[in-house]
Amino acid sequence: MKVWTMAGVLIVLGFALACSPGERTELKAAQLRCEYLKNPLGIDVTRPRLSWVLESTVRGQKQTAHRIIVASDEENLNKNKGDLWDTGKVKSDRSNQIAYEGKTLHSRQRCYWKVCVWDKDGVKSDFSAPSCWTMGLLEDDDWKASWIAMDRKPISGKPKDLAPGPPPPWFRKTFALDKPVKRATVYITARGIYRLHINGKPKGEDVFAPEWTDYNKRIQYRTYDVTSALTHGNNAVGAIVGDGWYSGYLGWRKQRGNYGLQNSLLLQLEVDYEDGTSQTIVTDDSWRCSEGPIVSSDLLMGEYYDARKEMQGWDTAKYDDKAWAPVILVEKPQAILVAQTSEPVRLTEYITPVNITEPKKGVYVFDLGQNIAGWAKLKAQGKAGTKITLRFAERLDSTGNIYTANLRQAKATDTCMLKGQGIEIFEPHFTFHGFQYVEVEGFPGIPTKDAITGCVVHSASPPAGNFKCSNPMVNKLFENTTWGQRGNYISIPTDCPQRDERLGWMGDAQIFIRTATFNMDVAAFFTKWMVDVEDAQSEEGAFPDFAPRLKDKALMRFEGAPAWGDAGIIVPWTIYRVYGDTHIIEKHWGAMTKWMDFILEANPDLIRRKKVGNNYGDWLSIRANTLKTLIGTAYWAYDAKLMSLMAGVIGREKEANQYDKIFQNIRVAFQKAFVRAEGQIRGATQTGYLLSLAMDLVPEELRSKSAEHLVENIKKRGWHLSTGFVGAGYLNPVLTQMGYADVAYRLLLNDTFPSWGYSIKQGATTIWERWDGWTEEKGFQNPGMNSFNHYAFGSIGEWLYRFVAGIDLDPEIPGYKHFRIKPFPGRGLEFAEAEYNSIHGKIISGWKLGGGKITMNVTIPPNTTAIVFVPTSDASKITESGNSAADSEGVKFFRVENGAAVFKVSSGTYTFTSAFNNRERP
Ligand code: BGC
Repeated sequence: MKVWTMAGVLIVLGFALACSPGERTELKAAQLRCEYLKNPLGIDVTRPRLSWVLESTVRGQKQTAHRIIVASDEENLNKNKGDLWDTGKVKSDRSNQIAYEGKTLHSRQRCYWKVCVWDKDGVKSDFSAPSCWTMGLLEDDDWKASWIAMDRKPISGKPKDLAPGPPPPWFRKTFALDKPVKRATVYITARGIYRLHINGKPKGEDVFAPEWTDYNKRIQYRTYDVTSALTHGNNAVGAIVGDGWYSGYLGWRKQRGNYGLQNSLLLQLEVDYEDGTSQTIVTDDSWRCSEGPIVSSDLLMGEYYDARKEMQGWDTAKYDDKAWAPVILVEKPQAILVAQTSEPVRLTEYITPVNITEPKKGVYVFDLGQNIAGWAKLKAQGKAGTKITLRFAERLDSTGNIYTANLRQAKATDTCMLKGQGIEIFEPHFTFHGFQYVEVEGFPGIPTKDAITGCVVHSASPPAGNFKCSNPMVNKLFENTTWGQRGNYISIPTDCPQRDERLGWMGDAQIFIRTATFNMDVAAFFTKWMVDVEDAQSEEGAFPDFAPRLKDKALMRFEGAPAWGDAGIIVPWTIYRVYGDTHIIEKHWGAMTKWMDFILEANPDLIRRKKVGNNYGDWLSIRANTLKTLIGTAYWAYDAKLMSLMAGVIGREKEANQYDKIFQNIRVAFQKAFVRAEGQIRGATQTGYLLSLAMDLVPEELRSKSAEHLVENIKKRGWHLSTGFVGAGYLNPVLTQMGYADVAYRLLLNDTFPSWGYSIKQGATTIWERWDGWTEEKGFQNPGMNSFNHYAFGSIGEWLYRFVAGIDLDPEIPGYKHFRIKPFPGRGLEFAEAEYNSIHGKIISGWKLGGGKITMNVTIPPNTTAIVFVPTSDASKITESGNSAADSEGVKFFRVENGAAVFKVSSGTYTFTSAFNNRERP
C-alpha cells in the first residue's frame, strides 16, 4: 500500500515536472567522445560514432530521448544551430555507437557538438558541455608536402655486430608570419618515428609516432593544433626522425630495416589568418638537415646521446643553420596515409627508485620496485665527456648484479656523454626497455635516488577498472595484470617489452583481451590493431601469428596457428560484446569469412589437423601436453559459433544459420574424436577439459562428468594447475561456472609451484612468461625464452572482475546496457570489490562478510539495468539500504537460485544485506 502511494506521488511529480516549461532534469550527459576519443583532431572516419555517459543521482533514471547538435563553428553551436547535423528529438535510449548522419564531412572540417537528453519522465536536460572533433586530410591531393630525407648512404639492414643505425636526422625550416593567426594545424608523419618541435619547444606529449602498422600498406599521420606555439614574425619548425619500427631492429632475426632503411619526414603546417587568407608550410627541398647529439637510437638496442653535440636553439628561428645540409626529396610510399585514431603512446607515470646498491666498485644498481616498460631519466653533473652508461634488467643474479641473459640480442643500453655544464638531464628519444633495475656505470660521484627516475610509457588508453580484496597476495596479482598490460600495450599488444621480440603475438592478445577491457578502455586500441591483423592476412586467408607482420621471408610461415590466428575472430567479437561495437564486425567480416573458408578447405573432415606454419599447442603448459588437433578443432568450433552470433548481430541471417551448422558439425566431429563415453577428454589434460567445456563441445549429459574429471586432474596434482597460455584463461571461469568455485579459489590462493602465487612469493611485480621463470630448485629458466613481463597468464584478471567481484556482461546484451552482478564470495576472502567504467558509465560491485552477514554495495549506471545475485542463506530477510529488499525502490525480486536471491535492479546505488552462512561458502 505504502509503495503504491509513493509511486503515485512520483508519477504526479514526474508529470508536473514534465509539464512545467523550463524545468530541467538532474540527468546529465557528460564525457562526450567521438570514435572513442575525447576531442580528437584529424580523424578520417567520415561517419564517426558519438557517445556520452549519463550522470544522475536518481534511482531508475533513464534516457528516453536525445538531441545531438553538430555545428561548423562555436558560434553556431552556442546558438543551438546544428548547421552540420541536428537530430532533433530522437526517441531512443542509446548513448553510444551513434553514427554521424549529417552533412558530408570534408578534409579539415571542424565539428563542434553537444547533446541534451530527456529523462525517464520526459523532462529535458541542459545541453552537455561542448565537445569537438576535426577531420584530417581525406584526399591524397590534400597533401602538398613532399617526403624529405637526409642525403646519405643507408647502412645495411644486417650488420655483423648488431650495430645500430646511423644518427637520426634532424630537420628544420624557418618561416615568417606577418598577420594575426586564427589557427594553425600540423599534419605530420614519418618513415621512422618523429619528435616535432616548434619555436624552441617539443610539441605534443606523444612518443613513437607514427605507430606500428605494416608501413608497406599504411602509415598513420597525426594532427596537432599548434596555434599557440606560433608567433608574429619569424618562426621555426623542426623534427627529429628516429628509426623506430620502420628502420630499426625488430624481433629476433638480427635484422634492421624491416620496412625500409632511410628515415624520412612528411609535414604540412597550415596557417589560417584572421583575415581569411591562409599559408601552408610543407616539407620540401627548402628544408635543411643535420645529424645531432643522438648518435644512435634503436628500440631494442638503446640510445647513445652525446650532449656535447647539442645544437642549442636548433628549433628556433634565430639559429644559424649554415652548417646544416640541404635535404633531398624521396619517393612517396606506396602505402596509404591514414589518421591515427587510437590513443597515442605516452609517458604516463614517473617512478622513484626504492633502493640503490653497489655490487661492483663504481657500478650502481637502482631498483624501481616495479617492472615497467619505458626508460630512465638520468640526472647527473660532471666534466664534459664523462660517459655514463645505463643498462636495464628485470631481475638481479645471485651476486646482486643485473641479469640480462634473457634479453637475448636486445642490448638495451643507453649511453650519455655529459657536456659539462651544470646539472644535466638525459632522457632517450626513440627507445624503450622492459626493466625493474637500472645499472649505472660511470656516474660522477655517488648517486642519490634522484639520479634515476623510472618513466612508464605505453599506449595511453584510459584506465577503466580496479579490483581490491582482503588478500594482499591476490591484490598484488591483480596489480601485476595491470602492469603486464601497461608494459605490453605499446602501440600494439606485444608479448614482452624487454627481449629482442616485442611482437604483436595474437594468441597472447586474444587470451588476455577480456582482462584488458576491464583494466583499460581498449576500444580504440583494438580498433586500430584489428586493421593490422587484417593487413597481415595472407591471400589464402590465413591470419598471422603476430601482427603487424615483418617483411622477412623466413617469418612468412608464422601464420594460421590455432588459438593465435583465431584472434582475428575473437577480437572483433570481444569488442562487440564489451562496447556494443557492431562496426568492427562489419569492417572485418570479409577477412573473417576468408579465414573460416581457409580452415575448412584445409580440413574437410572437420578436425583441424592441417597446420600452416606453426602450431604452438597449449604454449608453456607445465607437465601436460594437450593434443594440438584438439586445441585447433575446439578453437575452430568456437570461431564458427562466434561467426554465427556475429552474423546475427549484423543482420546476416543466412550466414548465421550456415555458421551455426558448421559449429554443430565440428562439434559432432570433435565429440567423435576427443570425447569418451564417461566424459573423459582424450589426453586428459586440464586444458583439454577446459576448452571442451568452455566451447560447448561436450554433450549436455556428460558436462558434469567432464568437470569432475577436470577437478580430479587438479586434485591429483596436489591442487595445482598445468595449463599453458591457452588453458589458463578458461581455468577459473570454467571451474566456477561448473560449480567448483572452491577449486578456483584454491588455485587462486595457492602459492606453491606452479601457481600465480608462486611468482608473487618470488617478488614478481608483473606476470611472468612461464610458471617456472625462476624456481628455488632451478633458479632461472633457460634465458632463451624467459620474460618476466608477459601478460598471457594475467588472463586470471577477467575472473577476478567477473566472478570474484561479480561484474559480468549479460549473455545476450552487449555493452553493459543490461548486465549481471554475480559474485562468488569464496573461502579465503573477507571482502572484494571492483569498479569498472563501462561504455555506459561506472559500475561498482563489492561484497563484505562479517557477523553471519554479507553486505553488497552495488552501483548501476543511469540508463542501464542489472540482474543482481545476492548470496544468501535466508532469502526472505534480505534488506536494501535498511528496507526489505523486495519493497525497495528500483529493486524487483525475481527468484532464488543456487543459494542466491536474484533481483532486477535499475540504475542507482544500493546496499544489500543478507544472512550468510560462512560454512556454505564455496
Ligand atoms: C612469444 C609468445 C608467443 C609465442 C608463440 C614466443 O616467443 O614470446 O608470447 O605467443 O612465441 O608461441
